[in-house]
Amino acid sequence: AKYYGLVPAAGQGKRFGADAPKQYADLGGLTVLERSVNALLADDRVHKVFVVCAPDDTRCASLFESVPKVKVLPLGGRERVNTVLNALQYLLENMWVFETDWVLVHDAARPGLTRHLLARLIDQASEHVAGGLLALPVADTLKKASVSEEGDTSSQTTVSRTNMWCAQTPQMFRAQALSLALAECLYQGAEVTDEASAIETMGISPLLVMGGLENMKITQAQDLEYVRCLLNLQPLDGEA
Ligand code: CTP
Ligand code: MG
Repeated sequence: AKYYGLVPAAGQGKRFGADAPKQYADLGGLTVLERSVNALLADDRVHKVFVVCAPDDTRCASLFESVPKVKVLPLGGRERVNTVLNALQYLLENMWVFETDWVLVHDAARPGLTRHLLARLIDQASEHVAGGLLALPVADTLKKASVSEEGDTSSQTTVSRTNMWCAQTPQMFRAQALSLALAECLYQGAEVTDEASAIETMGISPLLVMGGLENMKITQAQDLEYVRCLLNLQPLDGEA
């Protein structure tokens, strides 16, 4: 079986709130998206990376024109799950990937994935029938909140953090198994926020592989600055 990257990059970055989606923000002379894709290509076992952008996105294809190991698919959907499933079905139907190949789904908004974390995921999850994902054990105390009619958010109860993990990406599964699991969840109207949640609903338990803080997801505008620091990159002139 071969290993393939699949990068959903069709989001609008509403919480990030810039003119262009966050995957096109500058991070030391490269876009966030290019860094996320390059991070996957840092492991020689990754055969090719498929980047899935919105159908009306013209910038994405031009970024990777001259990169033979990257193929851009303008198949982005309404939610992240639609984007991933559209691409998977296309890739299986057109025999770009085969049923038992491994697919590593990695957020376009996680440029801090290191060679070391990626190698650890591939090494460990390849040995596990159900595949696996990078994740971090919850370090802080967990609060369940309630919101009053006046709009105040207050702490209702404390939830035990024992055995609680924060899911990161890449999340690595066999292509056909993932495609079927995602399609089944969509059919049932279940909420799917990551690939592992779809696999879990099939009664299969993916391996949790220790991730790292540097692999954080860029969500809010200030996250870009955190990632710049983590990666030791300089801001553009005139910025922050
Ligand atoms: N994504 C996607 N297709 C969608 C929605 C999201 O490919 N319909 C991708 C994003 O581009 C991102 C990843 O999924 O790489 C994680 O999603 P998220 O962090 O929520 O990004 P956005 O949806 O772009 O941000 P927001 O939710 O703030 O609008
Ligand atoms: Mg989103």
